[in-house]
Amino acid sequence: MIWIIGNRGMLGQELAEQLAARGIANVGSDREVSILDPEALRHFAQGVQKDTPIKAIVNCAAYTAVDRAEDEAELAHALNAEGPGNIAELARSVGARFLHISTDYVFSGAASQPYREDDPIGPTGVYGRTKAEGETRVREACPDAVIIRTAWLYGKYGPNFVATMLRLMRERTELGVVADQRGTPTWARDLALAIIAALTAPEWKPGIYHYTNEGETTWYEFACEIYAQGRARSLLPHEVTIRALTTDQYPTKAKRPAYSVLSKEKIKRTFGLEIPYWKASLKQYVGSDPIS
Ligand SMILES: NC(=O)c1ccc[n+]([C@@H]2O[C@H](COP(=O)([O-])OP(=O)(O)OC[C@H]3O[C@@H](n4cnc5c(N)ncnc54)[C@H](OP(=O)(O)O)[C@@H]3O)[C@@H](O)[C@H]2O)c1
Repeated sequence: MIWIIGNRGMLGQELAEQLAARGIANVGSDREVSILDPEALRHFAQGVQKDTPIKAIVNCAAYTAVDRAEDEAELAHALNAEGPGNIAELARSVGARFLHISTDYVFSGAASQPYREDDPIGPTGVYGRTKAEGETRVREACPDAVIIRTAWLYGKYGPNFVATMLRLMRERTELGVVADQRGTPTWARDLALAIIAALTAPEWKPGIYHYTNEGETTWYEFACEIYAQGRARSLLPHEVTIRALTTDQYPTKAKRPAYSVLSKEKIKRTFGLEIPYWKASLKQYVGSDPIS
């Protein structure tokens, strides 16, 4: 039995759907079994274990509002650092494998070549710092955990950049998008498949891994591709001018990494994964009618 924590979030729902499609038994919990309440977690685990042993726990719960985190540092710390620590302790005590999700925001963004798993971290905001501490707590409490860092996530089950762009492109005739931050979009479905590959590998391979789609781009180029694919699918009724902005022209409360491309060599090598190019996955997502 796989237990998905945060099963009503964007990634959690996608993972539940993909596990079910493969006939892999799973249960889920979200806010009603708070990751801040070790007793509630234990109680839920005991309920499941009465029938079937929990083979693995996947934590998709998090505080993900990057800008709001600057004003809600305590809550972000609780959900991104303490919560994962609680789950890791529980996983160890019930003998379940633990797979935790982290982020490219643990890096400073000063690099100019893809970040590897063992590169030094240097988060620049509350969200990144609390996620980095979450990684540390997970590894301390559960040294056998798998941690997958991902980035620029979108999917049908949550608010995300692609859905927002498609909406704005229907509402406006012009919009500006930041063109000096580089990274790689990641379709939540592809990430869910990578998680399943790690969960079902013949051998459990603890450690930190990076997963995004292949290739790299900027938010501006990403928006242009969303526009091209939205127009090709007749999802966008009129022409839109997309202007390239600098980060200075689009100030946000939290500082974003200028460069957060992640190297996927380790996860590809370890689990024999073939990772789709970001434009190919975007095409499939847009083709699935994401704004209906
Ligand atoms: N989204 C991205 O672009 C992105 C990029 C890099 C990494 N990540 C990481 O990927 C993972 C999944 O992200 P996501 O976008 O799928 O997140 P999400 O949609 O925000 O889902 C998080 C889920 O956790 C729930 N939750 C909140 N507080 C909880 C609590 N105390 N106990 C249990 N559950 C609680 C949330 O409920 P409410 O909705 O009611 O709060 C929500 O259902 C996270 O670890 C995130 O840091 C995301």
